[in-house]
Amino acid sequence: MKILLLVSAFNGLTQRVWCDLRRSGHDVSVELASAHTDEDGLASAVAMAAPDLIICPFLKHRVPQQVWGKFPTVIIHPGPIGDRGPSSLDYAIAEAAPRWGVTALSAVEEMDAGPIWAHREFDMPQDPPSKAALYNGLVADAAVECVREVVAKAADPRFRPTSQDQVPRPIDGTRTRPSMPQSARAFSWSDSATSIVRRVRAADSAPGVRGTIDGRVVSVYDAAVGETVSPGTTPGTILGHDGDAIAIAARDAAVWIGHVKEPANLGGNGVKLPASAVFDVADRPALTAPAALRAARYERRGDVGMLRIRAYNGAMSTRQCERVATELRAALAQDTRVLVVTGTDAFFSNGINLNVIETAPDPAAEAWANITAINELCTLLVSCVSQLTVAAFGANAGAGGVMLGLAADVVVARSGVVLNPFYDMGLYGSELHTYTLPRRVGAGTAQRLLTEKLPVDADDAARIGLVDAVGPRDAAAFDGWLWDLAESHANPQWHNSALDQKLRLLGDAFPPAYYEAQELSQMARDFFEDRNGFAAARAAFVGKHTPDRTPARLAAHRWSLTGER
Ligand code: COA
Repeated sequence: MKILLLVSAFNGLTQRVWCDLRRSGHDVSVELASAHTDEDGLASAVAMAAPDLIICPFLKHRVPQQVWGKFPTVIIHPGPIGDRGPSSLDYAIAEAAPRWGVTALSAVEEMDAGPIWAHREFDMPQDPPSKAALYNGLVADAAVECVREVVAKAADPRFRPTSQDQVPRPIDGTRTRPSMPQSARAFSWSDSATSIVRRVRAADSAPGVRGTIDGRVVSVYDAAVGETVSPGTTPGTILGHDGDAIAIAARDAAVWIGHVKEPANLGGNGVKLPASAVFDVADRPALTAPAALRAARYERRGDVGMLRIRAYNGAMSTRQCERVATELRAALAQDTRVLVVTGTDAFFSNGINLNVIETAPDPAAEAWANITAINELCTLLVSCVSQLTVAAFGANAGAGGVMLGLAADVVVARSGVVLNPFYDMGLYGSELHTYTLPRRVGAGTAQRLLTEKLPVDADDAARIGLVDAVGPRDAAAFDGWLWDLAESHANPQWHNSALDQKLRLLGDAFPPAYYEAQELSQMARDFFEDRNGFAAARAAFVGKHTPDRTPARLAAHRWSLTGER
């Protein structure tokens, strides 16, 4: 079937749907609604694709009548039947809805009011998830199931979607709600820590919640509940810091805030940054952040160690890489046989931190420090011969964050995870990818991945050898599967021969440092000479500039016209 994905951005969910549909043999193309300034332009771009079906997995724009009147157009709405409006997930998290859902409905004149094609419901986690984690997790899972059902139904000429009035509402109380305003998100430091954290997570990663810290108005993100505060502590007091995060007294306990943004309309730089870099906390007490916000957490079970690394949005700044390196060295020094390195349910890694680089006094120098710091992590993994290392993509990864995982001996992924194994920021890339990537997938496929710049999901990654195995989608089941897999690799016979083989490999070719030196010589030119537009690409990424056209590699419907791909 010829399917057009009409979207506001080629975001994580769209990438997952794109991979899934292509693997099922469909002819899939993408058009960015955001690249059009008027409805006529959008309609003629869609007409060029002449699709059998349009699916909108992530669309903030209105679909023009010229489009939905001519082509079957299905919106994937991140809310259950009857829910309408642009802030569905924000309300679901803020109001602690016990169940939520996703609905596939026809685009019609009124937003989210069309007849129903498919729907799925799920239990919401008890601990409030961030909106981004919910979106890329349970919502994406339900959305992919809805899309598969929609495609099957679209192939059936007898199928007609059912009017919303005729479908029972699986979740009570759903209704039309406006975009959630800041006034509804606002909190006071005199509120309870759990209620503040819930409010912040309902707006994370966007738009954040405005709050006042140390007399400055900022948008806050990346929150977790900390220890109980001593009686008499004034709410709003900065209690201390740990890593990127700072602790602030709420009524009953500390609220840890990992990231803040000083709004551009209030004179700030408008870039989301580690809170400890924005507020001067050097003189405040060094505390221990809750596990959810720590750069790395180690756990040992018998012969297996597991290091869970964590960077907000997967963006690993120089400081964050250094923190992880300290923990990684300690984990590698243990007498375990296998070390697993994994991320969180939300992110594995997206490589160097472009926000920190963009706002640094000397961005080129900061980028250089950052790439050498992340390379250190890769080198530690690649050159380890005392333990077998396993990297587990439990969540999405991009650019150098994928290559970081490839530095391990065994690489696995959770089903449904999307990897972007290429560099698309005017950078040659490093992270030892010239050493690891061709060894995994072969020189030809490595070159194709780096130049095509297309996402691969876990199943595609396994097919091309980018990962060795794919584990269950359910996060808890994946965790159990991962421990079992690591345990099986700890078997002395298997383990010793795998390490012997690694030693031989390391001895056979040029050392990893040779590859790193070659990569860094390219990166030096990218950073310091800016020969391939890194500064502009980075500024556009950090500033969230809207692209003025759909990237040629995604717009298959234009290839015959433009000759580009
Ligand atoms: N540095 C800083 N922030 C990053 C980042 C990075 N390397 N990678 C992702 N992010 C942030 C995004 O700005 C976005 O922030 P916000 O929503 O809080 O404002 C968030 O992470 C999610 O990223 P987004 O791009 O919306 O996710 P996606 O699923 O659509 O796309 C990627 C995933 C990996 C393709 C995309 O994030 C990307 O290209 N990242 C940059 C990778 C890179 O070039 N790294 C440097 C070279 S190693």
